[in-house]
Amino acid sequence: MAQINGNSTLKVVSLFCGCGGMDLGIQGNFKYLENHYEALPFEIVYAADNDAYAAKIYNDNFSHKCEVKDVRDIVPSEVPDHDILLGGFPCQSFSIIAQNPPRLGYKDDRGKLFFEMVKVLKEKQPRFFIGENVKGLLSANKGQAFPMIIKEFEKAGYYIHFKLLNASEFGIPQKRERVFIVGFRDFDDYFNFKFPQPYTLTKNKIALRHVIDKEADKDEKWFFSQRAVEGMLRVREKMNKGRVQDIDQPCNTISSHLAKVSLNGTDPVLMVNERYRRFSPREASNIQSFPRSFKLDSVSENRQYRAIGNAVPPVLMWKVANSLTNSCLIP
Ligand SMILES: C[S@@+](CC[C@H](N)C(=O)[O-])C[C@H]1O[C@@H](n2cnc3c(N)ncnc32)[C@H](O)[C@@H]1O
Repeated sequence: MAQINGNSTLKVVSLFCGCGGMDLGIQGNFKYLENHYEALPFEIVYAADNDAYAAKIYNDNFSHKCEVKDVRDIVPSEVPDHDILLGGFPCQSFSIIAQNPPRLGYKDDRGKLFFEMVKVLKEKQPRFFIGENVKGLLSANKGQAFPMIIKEFEKAGYYIHFKLLNASEFGIPQKRERVFIVGFRDFDDYFNFKFPQPYTLTKNKIALRHVIDKEADKDEKWFFSQRAVEGMLRVREKMNKGRVQDIDQPCNTISSHLAKVSLNGTDPVLMVNERYRRFSPREASNIQSFPRSFKLDSVSENRQYRAIGNAVPPVLMWKVANSLTNSCLIP
């Protein structure tokens, strides 16, 4: 583990923790493909999510427990003291269109969730926070929502860096693009921080073939029926939607609804021996850069797909947290 001023660790609170992609990444000490991602100097002291199934997966994999709770029921003053707040806040539609002057959607129930993070920041003033969201957040509401979100974080007392990161440029076989927002209470930290450097050369990118499970190729349950294929072929000429992946490239983004993947949808599928097949939950987890030791089996496959598809890739989070450690914590 990296040393920061002796042996101390920074305390982490994780809101919207899901099955723990961000949490595993910031904690470190896991293996993915041939690499060991070393332990980082962070310790999670509180985690919450309102999805009981994602929490079950979380609790099977971490020694501390995830509380099944709606974040709107969290009283900020009762959140344990911490140094860094995490929040992959749910992707939401901010209802700010046609307002004069424009403001964020306080009345939209989902819009409120982001403010739960702001409330905790205002009350507890941790040294850092890390937020994560979909690329679409940058352009939501004709580009008006994102600057307002940043302003809310600034009003809570934070200097902000943000960057769109593509997982495939950080050792993950998936072209997932996500916005990371990193907040700093102290100007020196803000000044010193640098996002991790992406691998830009194609030869450094990891191909999907490295995480395909050969056992799944032998299991009929993952293959689409002849009927589904014929249905797809009837519309394919016009729609061209068979999203077969090139296994020599990183995969397209894994979504949370892979359980319902259809050949007429936009989710990635595989072609094996000239037959279409879906990814197994374990393959989805591999594509998201969870270690093979990550336990998934205590909930249904549908719930596994959902939690895994919602997650922040642990390796991507590790790279961001490692950069934070190197640029702000190691003297
Ligand atoms: C994008 S996912 C976060 C993924 C997680 N950070 C990870 O890396 O695995 C958003 C999460 O917010 C949770 N969520 C949505 N509404 C919530 C609420 N009102 N209270 C608590 N959690 C909520 C969802 O269950 C989901 O797990």
